Amino acid sequence: MKYTLITGASSGLGRETAIYLSESRNLILNARNIERLEETKSLCKSTSDIILWPYDLSLINDLELNFVEFIKNIRLERSIEIEFEAFVHCAGVMKMLPLRSLSLNSLNEVYAVNVFVPCMIVKILASKKFNGKNLNSVVFISSNISDRGAAAFCAYGSSKSALDGLMRNLAVELAPSVRVNSILPGGMRTAMTADIFDDINIASEFNKNYPLGIGTPADIVPAVEFLLSEKSRWITGQQIVIDGGRTINITERKA
Ligand SMILES: NC(=O)c1ccc[n+]([C@@H]2O[C@H](COP(=O)([O-])OP(=O)(O)OC[C@H]3O[C@@H](n4cnc5c(N)ncnc54)[C@H](OP(=O)(O)O)[C@@H]3O)[C@@H](O)[C@H]2O)c1
Repeated sequence: MKYTLITGASSGLGRETAIYLSESRNLILNARNIERLEETKSLCKSTSDIILWPYDLSLINDLELNFVEFIKNIRLERSIEIEFEAFVHCAGVMKMLPLRSLSLNSLNEVYAVNVFVPCMIVKILASKKFNGKNLNSVVFISSNISDRGAAAFCAYGSSKSALDGLMRNLAVELAPSVRVNSILPGGMRTAMTADIFDDINIASEFNKNYPLGIGTPADIVPAVEFLLSEKSRWITGQQIVIDGGRTINITERKA
């Protein structure tokens, strides 16, 4: 059976992606919080097969072993073939850290989940021994900060630039069998940004700078589905910005 792996599926955009894709795909969902993963599963279409893989992705040294063992056990327990046709990396760590507060540990924490993990997971899924030639599309959830800059965003912003660099290199190396693209969302209200949007002043500043207003995960998921599907069969190595016009707006507006 064919499956799509989604990381970050316990919350926000990853959960919304899981619910949307469950209309047409079997899914393997990853995050740390098992209760919230179960909740995502309960919101998914029941006609699809949904398997939960709870794992802390920051434990990057054990990632390959844990994932491969997990899939091997499911193949044995259920006597089914599990083949990965697609991968959506939605898990992300955002830390707002001014340069003076930046440490090697915090950089490692952000880069592990945002950059190293997607690279290692694609390596596993592109391995013919593990997954045959089944992988055909990968989508990384980046951010519209990837090609820009902002104060206190050295770690997070540069990790998303690195993620997009990784995406382009993988797109060339894995062509023509696997397409790899990223989506660069702008500000959406999720658990990650709740503190920011709860501040009325910041929220009103955001609203003024977004020509189409602040987005929601529902504004992003149709594009994920499109990039995974055959409809985008000639698109690879691209950054798709979905941010309500934030990054093309040069109008100066004071909050
Ligand atoms: N919200 C925005 O405004 C915005 C804008 C641009 C880009 N993005 C990107 O969109 C993606 C989704 O973010 P979101 O807004 O939906 O945030 P969210 O609701 O906080 O979701 C983050 C997800 O990442 C998972 N995660 C974090 N650390 C993990 C770890 N060590 N191991 C496994 N899973 C981990 C979390 O699951 P557990 O806590 O259960 O482990 C959660 O499911 C991120 O890549 C983010 O950078 C968000």
